[in-house]
Amino acid sequence: MAKGVARIAVVICSSRKPRANPQIANFVLEAIESTYQDRWSLEPSLKVIDLAERNLPFFDEPDVPSQIHDYTKYAHAHTREWSKEVQSYDGFIFVCPQYNWGYPAVLKNAIDYLYNEWKGKPAMIVSYGGHGGGRAAAQLRQVLCGIHMIPTKKHVELAFPTRSALLDAAYGKDLGLDGFSSKGIWGSQRKEIGDTFAEMMDLLCSNKVGKAFKSAAVTFGMAKQEFRKKFKKSSGEHASGRGEARSEE
Ligand SMILES: Cc1cc2nc3c(=O)[nH]c(=O)nc-3n(C[C@H](O)[C@H](O)[C@H](O)COP(=O)(O)O)c2cc1C
Repeated sequence: MAKGVARIAVVICSSRKPRANPQIANFVLEAIESTYQDRWSLEPSLKVIDLAERNLPFFDEPDVPSQIHDYTKYAHAHTREWSKEVQSYDGFIFVCPQYNWGYPAVLKNAIDYLYNEWKGKPAMIVSYGGHGGGRAAAQLRQVLCGIHMIPTKKHVELAFPTRSALLDAAYGKDLGLDGFSSKGIWGSQRKEIGDTFAEMMDLLCSNKVGKAFKSAAVTFGMAKQEFRKKFKKSSGEHASGRGEARSEE
């Protein structure tokens, strides 16, 4: 019987042009695909969200998002669209650069627009920078806990091996990343990415997340039928496959 689908967004958190983020997000997708264990009751379906394409203005809603329980009540069309998109995912992988010891403002802005849409959903962080972007990851983890997401215990830090690699990244040059083999600068971290993704899949398939989703599903009027399909082992939903989308730049 076909498995239910866990829809997971891979979020590109840099909005600069040029930038390194799309090729690093692609590397993460490839690393997940090449280390995937296929041992869960749900089949992951991964898609890319590029915050540069989403192009949200600075947060401009009149209400506090935690008080909004019906997305049609948001004042602005751009918020309603963003809400619908975030609602449609079950989990998030934030592929995030470090900027001045923190994470990019465009990501904080995108997070602050919403609240109940994030709540109860698992999240995985892959940070990058001169030393792996650990400070950005720590700050992001704190904020994700603040909106009641469930971050994986592990996260992944990808460090540029040299200053010239960091500068190449900053100017969007090809870093020669290959998530399908151990070649390339972060080839040895593919397993770490796979293990962290496995932790996220464990969370997605756990009762804890199931319960959190249940309240979110009611909040946003998702069909209960759909919810039951996802969390009953006997689901008849068709899987759409993982790694089905790639962002190009
Ligand atoms: C505004 C800014 C601040 C940065 N701050 C840091 C930093 O604190 N630590 C670090 O290791 N790299 C830092 N960098 C270098 C980035 O790791 C590198 O430019 C990377 O390519 C940024 O990701 P992006 O190209 O996807 O935006 C910074 C880059 C920018 C543009």
